[in-house]
This record gives sequence, structure tokens and C-alpha cells, in this order.
Amino acid sequence: MGLAALCPGTFDPVTNGHVDIIRRANGCFDRVVVAVLENPVKAPLFSVDERVAMLKEAVADLEHAEVDSFSGLLVDYAARREIRIVVKGLRAVSDFDYELQMAQMNNKMSGLETFFVPTSPQWSYLSSSLIKDVVRFGADVSGLVPSFVQDRLEEKLGPGRE
Ligand code: PNS
Repeated sequence: MGLAALCPGTFDPVTNGHVDIIRRANGCFDRVVVAVLENPVKAPLFSVDERVAMLKEAVADLEHAEVDSFSGLLVDYAARREIRIVVKGLRAVSDFDYELQMAQMNNKMSGLETFFVPTSPQWSYLSSSLIKDVVRFGADVSGLVPSFVQDRLEEKLGPGRE
């Protein structure tokens, strides 16, 4: 089985920044499970099935990566999958406070460890929310998300669509 890592997130939708972190985790671990949070409270733009499908396409070339979804606590999902390490990207200091809190809480609850990976500089300003905001106003996000994600975003959000 080897050493496995979890890459959890909302992924609404997956960006090139997410793909970069998943790829780098894939280079360091024997197995990577990308776990999409099914959280109806957040009212995501894409359903969990759509988010999983886009991620599967985005990491299709990574032989040892799989994509799954979960609801409830991350620590419970990690225990069910028998994974002890979470990998999360850090874009800037602004990410750090909340990520540190979650990492410490998860560790306190179950001993789950979090490894932080600094986001590659070319993606440090990227977020799924910002991508959705600019697509609504007709901006071109090619090169910032995979091309099939751009298509899905334009179908849902392009000017005059909402
Ligand atoms: O991509 P995001 O939105 O930054 O991912 C956040 C995520 C999904 C990793 C986090 O919200 C999470 O783990 N949620 C599951 C519920 C949970 O375990 N909450 C307590 C965290 S201490």
C-alpha cells in the first residue's frame, strides 16, 4: 500500500493551483486520495458529482491518484480510508491562520498530520471564488483552470447565463 496522503478541498471548481499541489503530493507519496467535500451549506456552483468528474479528468495522468467525495469530519473520513497525512497548499500568509487552526484541531481530534506545501508562485493569487467572479463578467480564464473546467464555467456563468 505504501504511504498515502489526502488532498481535501471544496474544489468548486478545481484550478491549476489545486492541480499543482496534487501533482506535487503525488510525487512525494505512494498514493494520493483527492477528497471533495460534499457541503450543501456552502451552496457550491458545481454538484459534488460534477466536481469529482472535473478532478478525475484533471488528474487522469496520475496513476496513483484517485478522486473521492466525503461529508462530515475530515478526521473521520481519513480514519475510514486509513490515511494519516493531509497535504494542503498555502498561497499566502492570509491562508495560514485558518489552515493552522484546522490542522491543529484535526491533530487534536485524531492525530491526523497536515503537511503544508507552498503554492507555486504563478498560482499564488488563484482561488476558485475569484475565478467564478471574473467568469461572470466575461473574463478569459484560459491558463488558470484546465480547459474543460473553463468550458463548464462558461456554460454555467458566462455573461447572460445566470
Ligand atoms: O478547499 P477548502 O474549502 O479550503 O477545503 C476545506 C476543507 C474541505 C479541507 C475543510 O473545510 C474540511 O476539512 N471540512 C470537513 C469538515 C471538518 O472536518 N471540519 C473541521 C475542520 S478542523
